Amino acid sequence: MAVVESAPSVEPIDGSFLGKDIVSIDQFQPPDVKEVLDTAHAMRQSVEENGHNHLLDRSEIMTAVFYEPSSRTYASFDAAMKRLGGGVIPIVGVQYSSVSKGETLEDTMKTFAQYSDVLVLRHPQIGSAQRAAEVVDIPVINAGDGAGEHPTQALLDLFTIQEEKKTTDRLNVTMMGDLKYGRTVHSLARLLAHYGATVNYVSPDQLRMPEELQVELAARGLVQNEHDRIDEVLGDTDVLYVTRVQKERLELSRLGVRRRRQMRSMNLGRYIVTPELMKRAPNDLTLMHPLPRVDEISSAVDDDPRAAYWRQVQNGMYVRMALLSLVLGKMVEK
Ligand code: NCD
Repeated sequence: MAVVESAPSVEPIDGSFLGKDIVSIDQFQPPDVKEVLDTAHAMRQSVEENGHNHLLDRSEIMTAVFYEPSSRTYASFDAAMKRLGGGVIPIVGVQYSSVSKGETLEDTMKTFAQYSDVLVLRHPQIGSAQRAAEVVDIPVINAGDGAGEHPTQALLDLFTIQEEKKTTDRLNVTMMGDLKYGRTVHSLARLLAHYGATVNYVSPDQLRMPEELQVELAARGLVQNEHDRIDEVLGDTDVLYVTRVQKERLELSRLGVRRRRQMRSMNLGRYIVTPELMKRAPNDLTLMHPLPRVDEISSAVDDDPRAAYWRQVQNGMYVRMALLSLVLGKMVEK
C-alpha cells in the first residue's frame, strides 16, 4: 500500500468557505490560508477578552466521528465548537457502535449527517474523509485519514509559525522523526510549498519522507534536503518540527516481534531533542511538535522559551474555531 496517494481531487476553497469540505491542504491557496489565519487571530483576541466568540447558535451541531484513538484533536474541535456557542455530538470509539455490526463508513456518515451541521472525521484509512465528503451534503472536516493528511493540523502549524516568527515566508524548516507515516508532516510540507520554504528531512532510513510526495513537492518548487543527522542542518534551522514514530502504523507480525525489531534498528536516540541539542540550536529557533510526545523531546526542554508546542496546542483551538465558523458561513469581525 502506498503511504501517500496523490492528492485527492476535492473542491478548491477559492475564496469561499461556506458549505465546503476540508479534506486536503491542497484545497487552499495563500489567500484562503490568510483568511483562516486572520480569522484565527480574531478568535484568539475574543477568547482572551471574553472566553468565547458566540458566532453560532446552540442548536448548530458538530458531530465528531473518531474511529482512531484521539484525545487532543478531539478535545480541540470540541472546545472550538463550544467556544463558538455550538453543540457537539461526540462519537468516539466508533468500533464499539454499529460499525462493529458491519455498517459502512458511508452509512455511518450519512446517519450522523441527519442530525448535524458539520461532521469531523478521524479514520485509519487514507482517503476516508474524501469518501465521506462524497456522500453527505454538509461540510466534512478531515481530522486525520490514516497516514494521509491532517489539513487542520497543517493550518494550526502555519498559524503557530506565523505567531512565533512573525512571518511565514522563506523559512528554513527541519522536520525530524517519522516522516513516512506522520500525516502532519505530509500536510505541512504541502502547505509550505506556497511560501518559498526550504524543508530539511531528518529521519531513520526506514521512515523517510515518501519518495512520491517528495517528487510531487519538488515539481511545485519546494526545496527539500534529506539528512540522517540533525547537526547537519541545526545551525540554519528556523523551525524544528519533531514527530513521534507512528508505532501503530509500522508493519506488525504476530506477537509484535517485527515491530520491536524494526524500532531497534532505527537508532532512534539520534532523533531526540535534549537540552544539550538546544544549546547548539539557534537562539531564535522555534521548536514544534504536533503531540502526543513519547520521548522525542525531553521534558527538560519544556521550559526553554523556544519550545512552542504548548502554544501550538492552544493555537489549534483558534484555527478550528476559524474553520468551523467559516464553513458554517459565520463572519467574525477582524
Ligand atoms: C497527530 C496525529 O494524530 O496525526 N496528533 C494530533 O493530531 N494531535 C500526531 C501523532 O499522532 O503523532
